[in-house]
Amino acid sequence: MVEVIKNSKSIVITGHSIGGTTASLCALWLLSSLQSVSSSPPVLCITFGSPLLGNESLSRAILRERWGGNFCHVVSKYDIMPRLLFAPLASCTAQLHLLLQHWTAPQFGNHGVQLGDEAKAELFLSVAAHLQVASEAGEEGATSSYCPFGNYLFCSQEGAICVDNAASVIKMMYLTFIAGNPSCCIEDHLKYGEYVGKFCSQFLNKRSFMQGELPQSSWDAGVALALQSLGISGQESASEPAKECLKIARRLGRTPNLKSADLAVRLSRITPYRAEIEWYKGSCDKSDEKLGYYDAFKLRGSSKRGDKVNMNRHKLAAFWNGVIEMLDKNELPHDFHRRSKWVNASQFYMLLVEPLEIAEYYRSNMHRRKGHYLKHGRERRFEIFDRWWREKRVNEEKNSKRIKFAGLTQDSCFWAKVEEARDCVANVRSESDARKQVLLWDSINKFEMYAARLVERKEVSEDVVAKNSSYKKLLEELTELRSAVHPFWTATQFPCLRGGEVVP
Ligand SMILES: *[C@@H]1O[C@H](CO)[C@@H](O)[C@H](O)[C@H]1NC(C)=O
Ligand SMILES: *[C@@H]1O[C@H](CO)[C@@H](O)[C@H](O)[C@H]1NC(C)=O
Ligand SMILES: *[C@@H]1O[C@H](CO)[C@@H](O)[C@H](O)[C@H]1NC(C)=O
Repeated sequence: MVEVIKNSKSIVITGHSIGGTTASLCALWLLSSLQSVSSSPPVLCITFGSPLLGNESLSRAILRERWGGNFCHVVSKYDIMPRLLFAPLASCTAQLHLLLQHWTAPQFGNHGVQLGDEAKAELFLSVAAHLQVASEAGEEGATSSYCPFGNYLFCSQEGAICVDNAASVIKMMYLTFIAGNPSCCIEDHLKYGEYVGKFCSQFLNKRSFMQGELPQSSWDAGVALALQSLGISGQESASEPAKECLKIARRLGRTPNLKSADLAVRLSRITPYRAEIEWYKGSCDKSDEKLGYYDAFKLRGSSKRGDKVNMNRHKLAAFWNGVIEMLDKNELPHDFHRRSKWVNASQFYMLLVEPLEIAEYYRSNMHRRKGHYLKHGRERRFEIFDRWWREKRVNEEKNSKRIKFAGLTQDSCFWAKVEEARDCVANVRSESDARKQVLLWDSINKFEMYAARLVERKEVSEDVVAKNSSYKKLLEELTELRSAVHPFWTATQFPCLRGGEVVP
């Protein structure tokens, strides 16, 4: 595969029947291993009459990775194989055995046993019944243990239509299947060669699609054409539900995008709240107190400005919690967390505002009641934004060296780590147990190394290194503590004690 990847413009993986499932697995493996390779060829997987592969979780994960478009499952309109796994697993296995025996019967030059008409009818009815249950459950949003993913191309002698929404795929599977009969649903599995040959040549022929009434819109015309392609346009019982199904597929595809557009408008409306906090940070950086906005907010008395910033903090949190809630309810596009606009906006929000969340946590002494912020106080939204950012940056280069301090500290939890280190320093003074002291010093040293590296790389904003910031105060306290314990320890041996400034 490494050689193939190196020398190919694109990779197409394909297979028929169970071979199609293997092809899907192979493509999934390839897609996930190519994730970290920057210039990899596109991967396309085309299956023919493949049984289903995974459950709803797999289907969702594929959508989230934006891999749906890499899969095209060609399903002939009657083929039983892609529909088999809607039945409970035990009966599927028995049915699969029967089918494999049939397909290897002498008729096809092998030693299997050909199925009689009764057995065929039984198979057909059983699969149709389970499909009906699955397609009705799909309308309510529930899915059976197996769930389709990627694009489905339903084909017949007359043409093909493409559907990519899981519930609609199941529904189309059902509607086209029941228009068939026991015999053709089994023989269809071996006819893909014919179908593909036919509809390739048909793609080239312009089709005249309306014999009767004129379509009302291009959408209706498209649906009429699609149903004609499937050869079910004349069948009243199947064509009406199929039309409905295609309409639903379109609506399902559009709603999340409308919601995300609406959200974008709301994002622009809350921007002033964020801007006000930025302005607050800027004015703290300039002020003579030299506290930085973290400490200024934490130590604030009752002031109009402080109240305003606090209120904005709440409004922003409510907005972003709303976004997370919509995501949890699957109301937003599956690739929402991959859209730069949202990844950027959430990251910027987090870097600017999480320090204030931490300040409020320690200001109100929540850490005494619940424990430290990092373990016990961090809101779920920040964990999620962290993950989005990490995933987005897998393929990007780590940023180059900064010459100026960052506008915002690049670790939004920096201050929470300062608070934990302060706690350690306070405890180390009163701790008499030598072993516990060693542990405390260990944490303190780790923090110092972490912070010094951040400061050295200029990945902190200037508020961290402001004269009176609690980080600077902590460093001073540490120097004093160390010289009290070991008077000969000096800042020269511990450059980090000076906050990472280069010590000659
Ligand atoms: C889907 O299958 C995986 C692997 O078998 C399992 O871990 C997961 O819980 C399943 N998800 C659902 C929704 O059943
Ligand atoms: C900030 O530091 C200056 C000395 O650099 C000091 O005079 C002032 O009181 C400090 N302010 C606060 C709020 O700690
Ligand atoms: C997101 O930020 C990156 C760099 O920080 C920038 O290159 C990109 O254009 C931004 N995207 C949007 C949509 O703002």
